[in-house]
Amino acid sequence: MVRKKVCVIKGDDASPEVVLPTVKILEGMKLGIEFLWPVTGAEGIQKNGNPFSAEAKKAVDEADCTLFGSARSMESGLGYLRWGKKTYANFRPVKWMKGMRTPLKNPEGIDFVVIRENLEGLYPGREGDIERLEPLKLTDYITGQALNTSMKGKFAVRVITEENTRNIAKASCDLAIKRKAKGGKGKVTVSSKYNMLRQSDELFRRIVEETVRYYPELNFEQQVIDNFCQQMIIHPQQFDVVVMPNEHGDVMADGAAGLVGGLGLAPSACFGKNYAYFEPVHGTAPDLKGKNIINPTAMILSGSWMLEYLGLKEAAQRLERAVYEVYNEGEYLTPDQGGHSSTAEFCKAVSEKL
Ligand code: IPM
Ligand code: MN
Repeated sequence: MVRKKVCVIKGDDASPEVVLPTVKILEGMKLGIEFLWPVTGAEGIQKNGNPFSAEAKKAVDEADCTLFGSARSMESGLGYLRWGKKTYANFRPVKWMKGMRTPLKNPEGIDFVVIRENLEGLYPGREGDIERLEPLKLTDYITGQALNTSMKGKFAVRVITEENTRNIAKASCDLAIKRKAKGGKGKVTVSSKYNMLRQSDELFRRIVEETVRYYPELNFEQQVIDNFCQQMIIHPQQFDVVVMPNEHGDVMADGAAGLVGGLGLAPSACFGKNYAYFEPVHGTAPDLKGKNIINPTAMILSGSWMLEYLGLKEAAQRLERAVYEVYNEGEYLTPDQGGHSSTAEFCKAVSEKL
């Protein structure tokens, strides 16, 4: 068997406190993975004057995939992992398991995945002064009035392309099929602001609808994003796979994580055609730095997903089950989950279950 290579990006602030023990757990599973450790982020700036050096890029390229902590900004490798590696589909599962401290009364059966488009929309950050829009002669679609480009202010460009939307729609359907085989609902919901943005978000909606039609075993549903926001709170069990444009997905995935107990529990995986990286949904948690109490669940579950991607399915399931068992028993939970254990104690409990 060819030895698998994983590039590890430790991230900033409290992030290494979840990345290091996660890799330790993975090493303890003796799967023969080789880990590459480029210096990045704040440490990279200190050592090389660069948060993401050519050497770090080389490690990402050389590896089969990357395990990513959380970075303070796009410059610490996240930009390269997304746009450099064209990872267009960001899967953010929301699954409640017994023992997870949720604010909801009836969390039983919450099990859906937010698929966030990862490259387009507002994210490439193409902004500027309003006066630069003058040559475009834009008009408002409601009033029909010309945009007053003598106003002082800024604009942001939001782009939705057909090809990329088709790719993410297909990724959503493939995931729904895979989940259906394991008892999933076989449903793809598209959510965006298509009632207002009748070109860009309507294109996104329409392409998802068209794509789902190629999968007769799947059902299609649409929800305007603001309605989705309340639906996911009052009846989250209705969802299976929900796909949405970049910035909508960014916001909704954090909200959805709150449904099952918070960002400490939310893993994610980002797929392109030739690459994938795995990262928790949460940020760098600077307030928790050095305290050894940050919840490593999101990171460990991202690691489990990575094992599946590497073809180590049995190990992936074993690790996921170990985490769920620790919740089920409830003895070694971190403070965000109402427990009194440290990050290290939680990780030790997971290792013992393995
Ligand atoms: C995420 C994060 C990033 C994003 C930040 C760090 C730029 O919030 O992965 O969701 O907005 O995409
Ligand atoms: Mn985010």
